[in-house]
Amino acid sequence: MTHRIYYFSATGNSLQIARKLAESLPNSELIPITPDLAAELQAAAEASDSSKGDSSDGFDNSNNSNQSAGSNETSNAVPESVGIVFPVYMFKPPRIVLEFLRKMPKADYIYAVATCGMMPGKPLTVIKNIMLKQGMALSAGYVIPLVSNFIVLPKTKSKASVEKAFKKAEAKTQQIGQNVQKKTAHFDKETPDIIAKPVAWLGFNPMYRKIPELDKKFSVNSRCNKCGTCRDVCPVQNVKITAELPVFLHHCEMCFACINWCPQKAINWTPLTKGKQRYQCTGVSKEDVITGRFYRKQK
Ligand SMILES: Cc1cc2nc3c(=O)[nH]c(=O)nc-3n(C[C@H](O)[C@H](O)[C@H](O)COP(=O)(O)O)c2cc1C
Ligand code: SF4
Ligand code: SF4
Repeated sequence: MTHRIYYFSATGNSLQIARKLAESLPNSELIPITPDLAAELQAAAEASDSSKGDSSDGFDNSNNSNQSAGSNETSNAVPESVGIVFPVYMFKPPRIVLEFLRKMPKADYIYAVATCGMMPGKPLTVIKNIMLKQGMALSAGYVIPLVSNFIVLPKTKSKASVEKAFKKAEAKTQQIGQNVQKKTAHFDKETPDIIAKPVAWLGFNPMYRKIPELDKKFSVNSRCNKCGTCRDVCPVQNVKITAELPVFLHHCEMCFACINWCPQKAINWTPLTKGKQRYQCTGVSKEDVITGRFYRKQK
C-alpha cells in the first residue's frame, strides 16, 4: 500500500516539505495538484459509479488527459494514507486546493500540512470543515512556518532565521512521517480567533473572494524579454505571452509564482513589490515547479 502525498507549490516551500515527507514514508507517491487532477478525479468517480465491480478506488487514470506530460503511474489501490501539502493564502488554503478537496476520493487516514510565513490563520479548520461536509474526517493537521513569498509585505526573517525555520521544518516533517505511519491523530494550533476573525472579516475574506481578478494589479515593465517563465510556472495558465508583453487572464490563484520566478524581476503587483527581493525556496528549481504543473507521479 502506498502513502499518497498531493501538493501545491508556487515558490517551492510546500514542494520541499512534500519531498521530505515522501522520503520519510515507504512507498510514497508525490502528486502535484493541478486543475486537471480535480477534473480527472471527478471523471474517475463517475466512471467507477457506472462500472460497479471495478477494483478502482475512484482514481483510475486510464483516461488521463495529461499523459503526454509524463508517465502517469498512480496506482489504483486504496492508499494507506493521503496527505495534502500546500501554502497558506490569506489564512486559507489556495482555491485550487479547495477545489481538489471537494472532489478527492475517500481515504481512511487523511492529513494536511500547511506551509506559511508568520501567521497561518485557519487553513486546517477550513479543510476539516470541507471534509466534514463530504462525510470525511481530517485525521491530522500541521502548520509549518517557513518564509513568506508574499513579497508585498516587508521581509521579516534574516538569513539565519530562515535557515533555522527550515531546520525546524525538517525535524517536524520527519515527525509527521512517523505520525502518518502510526496513523496518529493530531491538530496543530492555528491563529487564535481573537486575531484570525477580525483580520479575516475586515481584510482577508473579501480579498480571498476576489482572488481570480487580483491579477489586474499586476504590471510588467520593459525589462521583460518574453522568456515565457511566468507562463510556464503559472499553475492555471493565467499568463499569455503576446506580441507586446505577458498579459494576465483573470483566473489567477494569487500564488505569486510568476512574480517570484521572473528572471528579469519585470513583474510587479501594485507598486508595493517594486524593488523588493524575490523569493524562491533553496533547493527547488524553476524546472521543479514547472514539472509540478503536470499531473504525474514524481517519485
Ligand atoms: C497571496 C498570498 C497570501 C499569503 N497569505 C499568507 C498568510 O495569510 N499567512 C502566512 O503566514 N503566509 C501567507 N503567505 C505566504 C505563503 O503561505 C508561504 O510563503 C508559503 O510557504 C509559500 O509556499 P510555496 O513556496 O510552496 O508556494 C501568503 C502568500 C501569498 C502569495
Ligand atoms: S518571466 Fe518575466 S521576463 Fe519572462 S516573459 Fe514573464 S515577465 Fe517577461
Ligand atoms: S498569474 Fe501569477 S499569481 Fe496568478 S496564478 Fe499564475 S503564476 Fe500565480
